[in-house]
Amino acid sequence: MSRDSADFELSAEEMRALGYRVIDMIVEHHTTLGEKSATSYRHRGELEALLREAPPNAGSDPLEVLASVEKNVLSNIMYCTHPRHFAWVPGPSNYVSVLADALASGVNVCPGTWLESSGPSQIELIATDWLRELCGFPATGGGVFVSGGSVANLTGLVTARQIMLDGIMDDAIIYSSSQAHSSNWKNIRILGFRPEQTRLVPVDDRLRLDVAALARAVDEDRRNGKRPFCVIATAGTTNTGTVDPLDAIADLCEQQKLWLHVDGAYGAAAVLTERGRRLLAGMERAHSLVLDPHKWLFQPFDIGCCLVREVRWLEQTFSEHPEYLQDTRDKMDMSREVNFCDRGVQLTRAFRALKLWMSIKVFGLDRFGAAIDRGISNAETAQRLLEEQGCFEIVTPAELGVVTFRYRPPQSSEGDLNRLTRALFDDIVADGHAMLTTTMIDGQLVLRLCTINPRTTEDDIRSTIGMIARLGAATK
Ligand SMILES: Cc1ncc(COP(=O)(O)O)c(C=O)c1O
Repeated sequence: MSRDSADFELSAEEMRALGYRVIDMIVEHHTTLGEKSATSYRHRGELEALLREAPPNAGSDPLEVLASVEKNVLSNIMYCTHPRHFAWVPGPSNYVSVLADALASGVNVCPGTWLESSGPSQIELIATDWLRELCGFPATGGGVFVSGGSVANLTGLVTARQIMLDGIMDDAIIYSSSQAHSSNWKNIRILGFRPEQTRLVPVDDRLRLDVAALARAVDEDRRNGKRPFCVIATAGTTNTGTVDPLDAIADLCEQQKLWLHVDGAYGAAAVLTERGRRLLAGMERAHSLVLDPHKWLFQPFDIGCCLVREVRWLEQTFSEHPEYLQDTRDKMDMSREVNFCDRGVQLTRAFRALKLWMSIKVFGLDRFGAAIDRGISNAETAQRLLEEQGCFEIVTPAELGVVTFRYRPPQSSEGDLNRLTRALFDDIVADGHAMLTTTMIDGQLVLRLCTINPRTTEDDIRSTIGMIARLGAATK
């Protein structure tokens, strides 16, 4: 490889050779994924032996480096796009968006300000507006793309704190249920609220936030001189796909003048389907709403979105105007153009909007809606097939693409079942045919399938359940 010793240029032929090899690897990955194990896991010692070295002073052939990445790095992962990856929330990415990411990175786009990136900023405006309209938010609303649900939730809660409390946090109280995603509790801590400023509201027998209990908690806090200011509801919980009673929570928030933050990182995209829309009714009344395109909108990691119903709230919360950015403001039409750095934490940021916009343009929204609908149906199919086997107990029925269950041999006690499920999980990982994970529901350790990958066929679900039944029967 001929190179100046002080730059990073490759020749055009070298760039093409490396690029074509990368594309071949990606295409091979996408077209043969279902034939491979869903997961591969190695211990640290083995990987240290394979990969550890001092940073080399001299370079080496990029194709050789790539071969080592293929052999030792990318072969040791859980394949989030795999048709039998049912763990946590899968990442059923799509190829068009993969290339959009490559393009955004290849051109090194930074849509932090309109001046540096007017075209990409316009695309982000359009893509966030598409999501805003789909979620039923008013035209005064708007959003910003961030790294994922955790940071999108942070963006919404920072905005709630700013707009509702104006920086005075004493005695302010925030409410959510045990089923809220852990990122919300982490964010509350990051924001500087103390544990006694949070209320864990009970859930009903369907694991939905209990609105009557929320109303009582708010009343009691007011009587005690506290300042209730925010409720976090979930539109599709990570554990069970449950949607909190959003309309009733929105009514209470309206009466009590509370900010409603809806975490729809997982479930909000189901608004593209008829049955999702029915389940998610009331989501459009949130003050801030999170939706993760890298979950159920089939985007490669990472992209999350925070929407607010008045976009000026984001700008009031996140704008800073240092002297070295004054040109960006002088040049722009402030009434129509946007510096996206004023809508969130990041100044330098990736052009995440491109992949979502390009894939919606290429496939069309109808295809997205049909793919989401298939994910909802797949969980129902899984429930039916589990019930047919006779050795499983459904713990929570299929909802928004999630079903939880246990392998239950006759005469097993509750204590036995938790131990058995733990052992069964280890066997499932070792087998590798499919990947799923466990969670706790009411103190029970359960297995959980999240079926949102549209590549998943009934055969994939059937063979996965067959594998669990076979391993379950052999587990001691
Ligand atoms: C409901 C919910 N909120 C937030 C998150 C966090 O999203 P991320 O992992 O993209 O940060 C998740 C992740 O699964 C989730 O299911």
